Amino acid sequence: MTATDACRSLATGAPSGSLQRPAELFRPVDVSGLVDAEGGYVDRAIFTDGTLYQQELRRLFAPSWLFLAHADQFHKPGDFFTTYMGEDPVIVTMNKKREIKAFLNNCRHRGARVCRADFGQTRNFTCTYHGWSYDLDGQLVSAPNQAAYPESFSMADWGLVEVPHIATYQGLIFGTWNPEPVPLVEALGDMAWYMDAMLDHDEEGTEVIGGVHKWVLEGNWKLSAEQFATDWYHVNMSHASALMVMSPTGKGPKDEIVHRSGRQFANELGHGAGFPVHPKNRFDARTVHQHVDYAALRERLGEARVEGPLTNGHATVFPNFSYLPVNGSIRIWHPKGPDKMEVWAWTIVDKSWPDEVKEAQRLYNLRTFGPSGIFEQDDGENWSEVQAISHGFITNGVPLNYQMGLGSEEHDGTYPGKTSELYSDAAGRAFYARWRELMNTPAWHEENSK
Ligand code: FES
Ligand SMILES: [Fe+2]
Repeated sequence: MTATDACRSLATGAPSGSLQRPAELFRPVDVSGLVDAEGGYVDRAIFTDGTLYQQELRRLFAPSWLFLAHADQFHKPGDFFTTYMGEDPVIVTMNKKREIKAFLNNCRHRGARVCRADFGQTRNFTCTYHGWSYDLDGQLVSAPNQAAYPESFSMADWGLVEVPHIATYQGLIFGTWNPEPVPLVEALGDMAWYMDAMLDHDEEGTEVIGGVHKWVLEGNWKLSAEQFATDWYHVNMSHASALMVMSPTGKGPKDEIVHRSGRQFANELGHGAGFPVHPKNRFDARTVHQHVDYAALRERLGEARVEGPLTNGHATVFPNFSYLPVNGSIRIWHPKGPDKMEVWAWTIVDKSWPDEVKEAQRLYNLRTFGPSGIFEQDDGENWSEVQAISHGFITNGVPLNYQMGLGSEEHDGTYPGKTSELYSDAAGRAFYARWRELMNTPAWHEENSK
């Protein structure tokens, strides 16, 4: 290790003088006893414990590919959007070369947020505390009273900390702090095939309509991520009244439609998706349904994908990005401590759709899965309810059940990867197996410090 290396922070390579973090600040917990993915048990402490939560930020969020934004949010140099990677605030922007860049939204002077706007257009990001200013490549370009700093002070050393890897899949921008990540497409694995059911209807791809909705829920981020990966089971009970409203008879869909066949994709990388295959299960907006050319879609995506993941499915890309293909809802569950999450949700539509079809989809998604949507309300209530009682000492020690469809995962000959029945916890077990694996694996910043 050179003297210069010794003066740089282990996590980011940024200058740190003589600072060196004591290893005691982070004592990892072995989580093997908290998740029995093989038997279908999960210990409730993983939803409530502050130490485990900190370990998630370091070992699970920091090294993973995380969803940042949709490519349609950036058209001109200087367009920016601020978001989070785990709890780390980041600015995503387009530089003058029209490259998408992401930076820690943290002023290198005394740590204020450099950009406080949700989104916008700018030439520079200027900190409102003392006025340090950074260009679209994150370089520090001006600091008031610069002459008073020592000669050793170099502007080049004090740029914004950059997210080292950015990659796009079908219009979705992801980033990771991992200095040596596997390529995004490898990290998605078989999940990409399922994602294409929403993202690859035609060559023009998708765009965002109607901005980003944000709301806060009193629940651990995994409750929602897990549900979108694995849980069709709750639909008939939790959404009974919503299904009734949407049914033409007002009595809810018939039994043979509700208890229909379908598949659930469960992936060793933690991703999951479920979808019914009954043809009457299309709860999509009528205007959209009438517009879609299903023959062309079958041609492009294949029968199995159009009658499977393109129906009324649900999905999670590990760890915290989820979507609903029929509603065009994409969302991220931002962790805000063990007991709280912030939901950020976009509506995406096919670029090729006429305006009135796009608008119909926007309204449909808003009414079903917007912050006050008839389905979203039911789901949020469940997660908050589960979290609300999780801190009871006895309650916290009673394990949760993920045994539905235990052992039923198989290569079914139609869908990529392993699938199970629609009503199953297979993807939930895979989600927590991956959680356990990452939580027990030292991340790059720990290996560097050995
Ligand atoms: S904290 Fe940003 S300029 Fe001082
Ligand atoms: Fe739901």
